[in-house]
Amino acid sequence: MSTKLRLGVNIDHVATIRNARGGRHPDPVRAARLAAGAGADGITAHLREDRRHISDADIDRLSNEIELPLNLEMAATEDMLAIALRHSPHAACMVPEKRKELTTEGGLDAVGGLDHLRPYVERLVAAGIRVSLFVDPAPAQLQAARELGAPVVELHTGAYCAAPAGPERAAELERLIAAAAEAGRLGLECHAGHGLTYETVGPVAAIANVVELNIGHFLVGEAIFGGLDSAVKRMRALMDRARAEALGARSA
Ligand code: PXP
Repeated sequence: MSTKLRLGVNIDHVATIRNARGGRHPDPVRAARLAAGAGADGITAHLREDRRHISDADIDRLSNEIELPLNLEMAATEDMLAIALRHSPHAACMVPEKRKELTTEGGLDAVGGLDHLRPYVERLVAAGIRVSLFVDPAPAQLQAARELGAPVVELHTGAYCAAPAGPERAAELERLIAAAAEAGRLGLECHAGHGLTYETVGPVAAIANVVELNIGHFLVGEAIFGGLDSAVKRMRALMDRARAEALGARSA
């Protein structure tokens, strides 16, 4: 089990608030700097086709002004590929995108989209960008990711987070645990994210093989009440505690 669990802070919704009025405030790059100071290991941003939050200029500035690795979330389109190749972020996470959705509602269908995704994965990998596929915790999706040559998968934690506490959430957690184990068997690096909160992060942080969590909406929401610095620090502490306890339990 990996001891180090990385935290990628997704700053999309700082841009959502900025865009509600136009102008420059609040600045996602300032948020990224604050997150870095509070213990984030990376910055994640989703450049959507409709540019509803992060803009092209934000990606320019995040690439040039932030020292932490940038994880660019992107749909598998020629436009996005060109942008990724131009900026050469540390990582690119391929996500499904529908214009009408409020957020990324489910994982990428890597099984059904093998032929479509293959050239995108190949070109990003050839450019030295670490490619991950954002998939539901289902074995067939992980096998497809492996077949596509993506080195990383990010497990969609949305169903787990949306389930009421109790047997339903426990069942979703079991799916995540099994998928992370399968990712390990397939030699895939395993990340997780979507919808994570202070309440739901611990059990996911405790999953052996998960080495990175990407968290955004909840942190930006909490920042309204107590500041981004404090929200990131608290999330980091909860993740680290859950991971340390899991490691202790396994070595006992
Ligand atoms: N990971 C991926 C691939 C995502 O698309 C998102 C949402 O943009 C997140 C993580 C973060 O989700 P949330 O904002 O709900 O924490």
